[in-house]
Amino acid sequence: MKGIILHGGHGTRLRPLTHTGPKQLLPIANKPMSQYCIESMKEAGVTDIAIIIGGVGSNKVSEFYGNGEKFGVKITYVKQDNPKGIAHAIGLCKDFIENEKFLVFLGDNIIQKNISNFSDEFLKSDYDAMILLCEVDNPSRFGIADIKNDKIIRIIEKPKDPPTNFAVTGIYFLTPKIFEIIENLKPSWRDELEITDALQILLSKNNNISYHLITEYWKDTGTPEDIIHANKSILENYVPVFNAKKESGVVITGDVSAGEGTIFKTGSKVNGPVIIGKDCIIEKNTVINPNTSIGNNCILSECDIRNSIIMSNCEIQKDVKIRNSIISSNSSIKQNETIKEQVFLLGEGTKIFL
Ligand code: TTP
Repeated sequence: MKGIILHGGHGTRLRPLTHTGPKQLLPIANKPMSQYCIESMKEAGVTDIAIIIGGVGSNKVSEFYGNGEKFGVKITYVKQDNPKGIAHAIGLCKDFIENEKFLVFLGDNIIQKNISNFSDEFLKSDYDAMILLCEVDNPSRFGIADIKNDKIIRIIEKPKDPPTNFAVTGIYFLTPKIFEIIENLKPSWRDELEITDALQILLSKNNNISYHLITEYWKDTGTPEDIIHANKSILENYVPVFNAKKESGVVITGDVSAGEGTIFKTGSKVNGPVIIGKDCIIEKNTVINPNTSIGNNCILSECDIRNSIIMSNCEIQKDVKIRNSIISSNSSIKQNETIKEQVFLLGEGTKIFL
């Protein structure tokens, strides 16, 4: 079975984070979110993978994943000139897929479940498609499956009056039958070729779409709040690895991972779950609270951080209380007077002097 990962899109809801690169490279627990997709696919035996790229900074995707060798997979890049929809992106892979069954992952979907069993079942089955559903609280924001007698009878995009709260996740098992449908698909009101429309047409032609309802963590990380939530969930299940140095008088509680070359100075305090990359300096009086990820090469000095993502090469100085924030790489926040708790959403290279 082959694989497709969607790594294009507009990423408008994540601006300014997406002004310099694709959202799927934003880190969750210090790893690009699309790397979780590659790892899930590999675990399910899918190692021949096409990555759809397009938009700002798409070269960063091939720079990071290369030919896939470092990740134990083989990667082919397929360019999407404009983000014309999920179905459009899948349609571009027709030649890559040839006649095989295939697995599609939206590159911003995080799932904490091994999908090997689903992959085995789909390979052995005569299903024309298999989708994974997950119960959500706000079904009007998602593609929703209507189910009767254990069968999907309808798939509707963002229904005003949802028949169920079973959201269609961004993980699809498909067969080449979908290509003919995509070729004849009409753009939706938002001028995109929608995967929900393609699946609905597949259904209406009496094809067999099977499903599984997953109860494990799944998140479509389209907004900053979603990313912070996914970061928390991944950290909660993270097996900590501590390779850093710690001076005397450092207080570390809970699960804390820290990379080589990182040093915790006397008087610093970390309360996990927290992950810190390599070569960071955590100065005295710095407090790092739960659900925080810090990238490589950061200097944190006398600040207090909670439930946030700080990417690599950042410097945060003095008495700043950072909460529920995402701070992109090469940014700095410097200030002299004590301020109240703050929320930041900073694009790459931002400099703030308070
Ligand atoms: P979305 O999150 O629905 O759309 P988007 O990335 O354009 O973001 P926004 O709504 O904030 O502007 O896309 C779902 C996934 O599919 C995501 O991983 C991006 C990817 N995608 C493509 O690769 N090509 C496309 O044409 C579209 C629309 C999305």
